[in-house]
Amino acid sequence: MIRLLTIIGARPQIIKAAAISRAIRNQFAGQVEEHILHTGQHYDDNMSEVFFRELGIPEPNFNLHVGSGTHGTQTARIIEGIEKVLTEDAKYDGVIVYGDTNSTLAAAVAASKIHVPVFHVEAGLRSFNMSMPEEINRIVCDQLSNILFTPTETGLMNLKGEGFEDIKTKVHFADGRGQKIVLSGDVMYDNSMYFSAMADVKSDIIERMGLRYREFILATIHRPANTDNAANLQSIFTALLDIADREQIDVVLPLHPRTRKMLPIQLTKEILDRIEENKQLRIIEPASFFEIIRLEKNARVVMTDSGGVQKEAFFYGTPCVILRPETEWVEIVEAGAGIIADADHERIIKAYDTLANKSVQFPLLFGDGHASEKIIQEIIHYLQ
Ligand code: UD1
Repeated sequence: MIRLLTIIGARPQIIKAAAISRAIRNQFAGQVEEHILHTGQHYDDNMSEVFFRELGIPEPNFNLHVGSGTHGTQTARIIEGIEKVLTEDAKYDGVIVYGDTNSTLAAAVAASKIHVPVFHVEAGLRSFNMSMPEEINRIVCDQLSNILFTPTETGLMNLKGEGFEDIKTKVHFADGRGQKIVLSGDVMYDNSMYFSAMADVKSDIIERMGLRYREFILATIHRPANTDNAANLQSIFTALLDIADREQIDVVLPLHPRTRKMLPIQLTKEILDRIEENKQLRIIEPASFFEIIRLEKNARVVMTDSGGVQKEAFFYGTPCVILRPETEWVEIVEAGAGIIADADHERIIKAYDTLANKSVQFPLLFGDGHASEKIIQEIIHYLQ
């Protein structure tokens, strides 16, 4: 029996881990045993617990409860906690890490230093913007990983551009094994397909909020480059308010706790007053997984600085204004289903006008919905 430790910490990782965990339970139960370690990076019920409940993930076997902190503090606490679990239990054949958060980086450092193989799901993504903490986390994690599971052709090309080889057979890691890149497809696509119909039954957010199909905007904002920069946050909120006023369209904004904390600090009194008075800018608590799926599926346009929300919008055939200077998911922009607008007021409005008024194509770019099975098969093969 192969024993794997899945490391999660932030909201998007809980979502990605659900797909892998389901594949292990349904198809590899006789070969693989999975334990889950939650770092506690996200700890609010609506940032963490609700996703376990909705996505049907087993209770974590370990919770480090690290909470919030500076990058150094948070990362250090996670490294310490994971090292302890891996050395005390010493029974794991490998760790699975997801994406690009501080939990991902810390897990890769802790495991690789004590020679536990690291399997990185969502490897190879790059923004080429080193001011993002995620970019640093990805680059380091990829270097330390035994198998780099990349979701897209672009990810594969990025890795090759950095000198990674498809298979490095010469001894690379302490246990004598090599390093490998696998183009697996995207586990988020697996999940979005699996949970789409279920969300329609389990969430009534559209009806509860009185929204109509393709007649509202879904917006999410949480990146430090936007929340921690007054000019950017002001520009984004002014654009949302202007579009809501001009189009008489509802803008639904589930608010990340980081953003909620920053609003009164970064926005002018004039903008805060406009938000207060505007009945169509509808700020709500962070959405659950079923809720966000329904919002993504029914919105006319999504406006977001989240990588995950960009992709989910694409999976559900909804165009997306990207509130960042670049994206890791360049395929979406190349397909014409997303426009990069950064935090620029004029560009946001122009991008919205373009996407709301044209017919957009959504080609299949993120695998076949079976990335998770492929990933587990590869891991089994690698560890045998
Ligand atoms: C983290 C990830 C980011 C990912 C995002 C998804 C890093 C560097 N960033 O960003 O890549 O897209 O998760 O949400 O790992 N907070 C709460 N309750 C919570 C969690 C956070 O109140 O349950 C607040 C705290 O004030 C905290 C702030 O949000 O300081 C930011 O949380 P943090 O985990 O540092 O980063 P995220 O912005 O969530």
